[in-house]
Amino acid sequence: MAFARVAGVGSYLPANRVLNNDLISLGVDTNDEWIVARTGIKARHLAEAGQTSSDLAFIASERAMEMAGVSAADIDLIIVATSTPDFVFPSTACLLQNKLGNKGAVAFDVQAVCSGFIYALTIAEKFIRSGSNKRALVVGAEVFSRILDWNDRGTCVLFGDGAGAVILEAADQPGILATALHADGSHHGILSVPGNVCGGKVIGDPFLRMDGQAVFKFAVRVLADVAKECCDLVGVESQSIDWLIPHQANIRIIEATAKKMGLPMNRVIVTVDQHGNTSAASVPLALDAAVRDGRIKRGQKIMLEGVGGGFTWGAALLEF
Ligand code: UT7
Repeated sequence: MAFARVAGVGSYLPANRVLNNDLISLGVDTNDEWIVARTGIKARHLAEAGQTSSDLAFIASERAMEMAGVSAADIDLIIVATSTPDFVFPSTACLLQNKLGNKGAVAFDVQAVCSGFIYALTIAEKFIRSGSNKRALVVGAEVFSRILDWNDRGTCVLFGDGAGAVILEAADQPGILATALHADGSHHGILSVPGNVCGGKVIGDPFLRMDGQAVFKFAVRVLADVAKECCDLVGVESQSIDWLIPHQANIRIIEATAKKMGLPMNRVIVTVDQHGNTSAASVPLALDAAVRDGRIKRGQKIMLEGVGGGFTWGAALLEF
């Protein structure tokens, strides 16, 4: 089997949909006009108390398995991308595996923040193309609401909770065509949760901190570059891509990336308006939305890309 192909997709958003104006009722010093103008975000979904990343991942995974026509026992690799794991350990992937009733599959988490799903998909593709595994469940799942400082209006309005999942399996036909991953840890300070648990106490700061403008500039530069890198690997022009699914952080970053790639916005999947930034879940959530509403069709070329804390960034070009 020469390729790894997407056999099914699924996603899940918690029931609690919170509009921008609802945030004001929750005590955030903000307004709908600012959030929409600066970010494009109108709503986000927030998990219920006690609802964990593996809970969201479980429903998204069941939906992806249903579309692929496979059961949990058919999966031999589970990778969960998350920065908001249920526990310090075991991994969210092992907790998901248990909820699904799978035994024996390789299972581990990937921590690459908002690029996490692209990292996880790339790793899964390499396992499959090496011949060691046949069918992977790749998930991005986050409860970012747990790490937000609700007194910091510059960050708390931006994020939401959710999960997206993909079944990736060995196939004779493409498939993932090219992937590219990068990181530069020298930028760790512009987006981080600079805390930890030590001796039963929180050490440092347990909330998300961000230099928004530095992140903005970095994201616009690397998203266009890494998409071009993927296109060059297979010798296609970026303008020939049917759909671009960039990480959903800010409509202005998405528009700037599309412009640099020469793609009109009607070939870009946008969910940031309804989901906010769901970190590692944002790309598979957007992919699932566009597959299920019929925009994305079999045989089309799709560019997935992410950028996030680390800093990390990456892209995957695939034929759906
Ligand atoms: O997954 C990657 C994660 N993050 C991102 O991709 C985010 C990238 N960055 C951004 O999207 C933008 O930088 C933000 C949306 C975060 C901020 O937009 P900005 O245009 O860079 O605004 P700013 O931070 O420079 O703030 C401008 C003003 C400030 O007021 P003053 O000092 O000019 O009076 C802020 O206090 O907007 C104010 N402000 C707000 N006002 C109402 C900041 N947050 C809010 C808010 N509501 N929620």
